[in-house]
Amino acid sequence: MTILILGSGGREHTFAWKTAQSPLCDKLFVAPGNSGTAQIATNVNISVTDFDAIKDLVLKHHIDMVVVGPEDPLVQGVHDFFLNDERLKHVAVIGPQKAAAELEGSKEFAKEFLFRHNIPTAAYQSFNPSNVEDGYKFLETLNPPYVLKADGLAAGKGVLILDDLNEAKAELKNMLVDAKFGDASSKVVIEEFLDGIELSCFVLTDGKHYKILPTAKDYKRIGEGDTGLNTGGMGAVSPVPFATKEFLTKIEEQIVKPTVTGLAKDNLPYKGFIFIGLIKVGDDPKVIEYNVRMGDPETEVVLPRLKTDIVEVFKAIAEERLNEINIEIDERAATTVMLVSGGYPESYEKGKEISGLEHVENSIVFHAGAIEKGEKIVTSGGRVMAITSYGNTYKEAIKKSYQNIDKLHFDKMNYRKDIGFDL
Ligand code: AMP
Ligand code: GLY
Repeated sequence: MTILILGSGGREHTFAWKTAQSPLCDKLFVAPGNSGTAQIATNVNISVTDFDAIKDLVLKHHIDMVVVGPEDPLVQGVHDFFLNDERLKHVAVIGPQKAAAELEGSKEFAKEFLFRHNIPTAAYQSFNPSNVEDGYKFLETLNPPYVLKADGLAAGKGVLILDDLNEAKAELKNMLVDAKFGDASSKVVIEEFLDGIELSCFVLTDGKHYKILPTAKDYKRIGEGDTGLNTGGMGAVSPVPFATKEFLTKIEEQIVKPTVTGLAKDNLPYKGFIFIGLIKVGDDPKVIEYNVRMGDPETEVVLPRLKTDIVEVFKAIAEERLNEINIEIDERAATTVMLVSGGYPESYEKGKEISGLEHVENSIVFHAGAIEKGEKIVTSGGRVMAITSYGNTYKEAIKKSYQNIDKLHFDKMNYRKDIGFDL
């Protein structure tokens, strides 16, 4: 098969790494890709949302399958674009159709879905510029901290958690009336604050059947001890040690099953990954959010633990026979640590040469914001590379990642030295 992966992050390098291992994959393209995917696939410099350019690429190279990494093309309807085109509709697309991608594209849509299907989540109400005053009143009925969420996609920045009521009111006005997050905050969801520890559950579905992948925990804050600004994710651990068998059964029964049957009931066509962001409140899981894709850097610890051929899995999803697939998981733990550009998640410099890669042993380096420049590999983004390792325990795995990080260098390189600290 000829396969195309859309995206350019550590997640997509990991997809490419796993896909390239499959005997079913004859030729692999990544658009736009990075310096990591360049070593195992053919990078094509087109944007993930330029559907016409994607179409030309698919037709030119007789591509049989497209695996969509990030949410933007899904929310914009890339899967529907393929289905609605006579010359593309035979191509297998891994990722939900536009109507289902609204689970990530709109927080209000996701909350309505959760309530309609009785899936545990925080209480909420949503507001728009015409009822800001009602929003203030609703805030007055809640206990701090206050959780405000821009309804639409806001590049991971659209959630505010505030301790002070007046500040919460001011921010609500900022979002709704002054368009703090542009169109994304023309509607705002205000939620009950849930106090607990977070984890993520990853589900594959073909719309009828599902398979649960290993859990993972991501470290989102820039600073050690979970302090400072939110990032895309600074490291991850899989499995999550506190997710006991009993807790996983609750997740499956109370959350995964009603999600998959809910998608079918609501006619939301879904062939792809569901990333369920969870919080453990007491002994019970509650849904914080849905994403319609894999997580990054969670992919860098989840896929290395998948022993099954991923292309077999994707084929089964496309053909709606996921029930026939046996998902085999490596018992070892996997951890990853993200190396980031100094200054990230605020402004940072690019084009810094990365050295020491040839000395890495017993870890896998997944490139993210890194590109080839002549013979060199240089930084091109905030999150630069993820160093993944296996171990019998997550502690053993994380030690290997840090040992290898000592051999790597670029100007102003930064990373968290405490991944897994809270487990
Ligand atoms: P989201 O984009 O919905 O995942 O929210 C981003 C982050 O905000 C989550 O990873 C949580 O850490 C936090 N968060 C979101 N909703 C809540 C909530 N209802 N209670 C507590 N924390 C929340
Ligand atoms: N690491 C969080 C995300 O991918 O959304």
